Amino acid sequence: MRVLSGIQPTGNLHLGNYLGAIRNWVRMQDEMDSESQCFFFLADMHSITVHEGREQRIRNVRDMAAALVAAGIDPDRSVLFNQARVPAHAELCWLLNGTARIGWLNRMTQFKDKVGKDREGASIGLFVYPVLQAADILIYNATHVPVGEDQKQHLELARDIATKFNTDFGVDLFTMPAPIIPKESARIMSLRDGTAKMSKSDPSDMSRINLTDDDDAIMTKVKKAKTDPEPLPETAEGLAGRPEANNLVGIYATLSGTTPDAVCAEFAGKGFGAFKPALGEVLVETLRPIRERFMELRTDDAALDAILDKGAARAAAAAEPTLRAAYDAMGLMR
Ligand code: TYM
Repeated sequence: MRVLSGIQPTGNLHLGNYLGAIRNWVRMQDEMDSESQCFFFLADMHSITVHEGREQRIRNVRDMAAALVAAGIDPDRSVLFNQARVPAHAELCWLLNGTARIGWLNRMTQFKDKVGKDREGASIGLFVYPVLQAADILIYNATHVPVGEDQKQHLELARDIATKFNTDFGVDLFTMPAPIIPKESARIMSLRDGTAKMSKSDPSDMSRINLTDDDDAIMTKVKKAKTDPEPLPETAEGLAGRPEANNLVGIYATLSGTTPDAVCAEFAGKGFGAFKPALGEVLVETLRPIRERFMELRTDDAALDAILDKGAARAAAAAEPTLRAAYDAMGLMR
């Protein structure tokens, strides 16, 4: 079993990232046996699709490394690194650009959502982004990729690219990766709009809970979260057509390790005035220890750089045989 996943180091870690992906990363790391390996990385090469100044980008990578360690990633047991330190990702991406089809990339919903009407003005990097993501996964022959639901289509593309490369060059080089998507928290929605996903790029900070938010900020955001005037129903079925209520109940269920049905049974007939403080409380208790560790870790840049350097050396060694075999399969002499 080879577990691999990545996160863009743009902005802060938010509740969607944590419940959709990072919690699963930590769980898989903690359940790993001696035959398995976990690779977790900061997708800084992907982040060139968002304009940032030099100093900000450097800070973002260190902060996201600190956030992952604070959330429970152990850099001794897992290989933790940033993509830019492992050039094999970019090299394999270039090779796979010969395999990926424009038609496949044209179907990527995340690209379409991000560019909106300005397709002509979008960067090439944003368009080929999923090919670099395929390279990230295939270069380690990852078998399991823990992600939120929004990455499912990118995973399918990685499988298509792997299959076509293997077929075109008559090799059995790339392994088919399987997405690991949580059942309850695969898609955490914005606190301001239950039909939009919680995201780093939402201009309203009130739409998301950040790892850096203090207890008061978390409480305020939960209390101001959009809801409807109806009381909570007796079962989760009654949440149909109520996206905001459904989202908040889902978050509560995930954090307290129960089901939306159990949460509805507990709060049936009560309004959000009663439910929100309880939700805020669970959120505060879950995030406080992570935030405190994060604040401490982010003050030591040298320690964070040492973690990323060590992780990159291990990652580069693991990537090398696959990269060499890909060049060889294509008849490219290195
Ligand atoms: P990114 O940085 O947008 O998000 C990191 C992880 O968080 C999940 N996620 C969510 N899950 C539930 N609800 C939400 N509202 C929510 N928002 C984000 C994402 O699904 C993801 O798992 N392209 C990737 C990074 C990447 C990658 C990879 C992932 C690059 N290469 C290879 C896996 C394998 C991204 O932008 O994730």
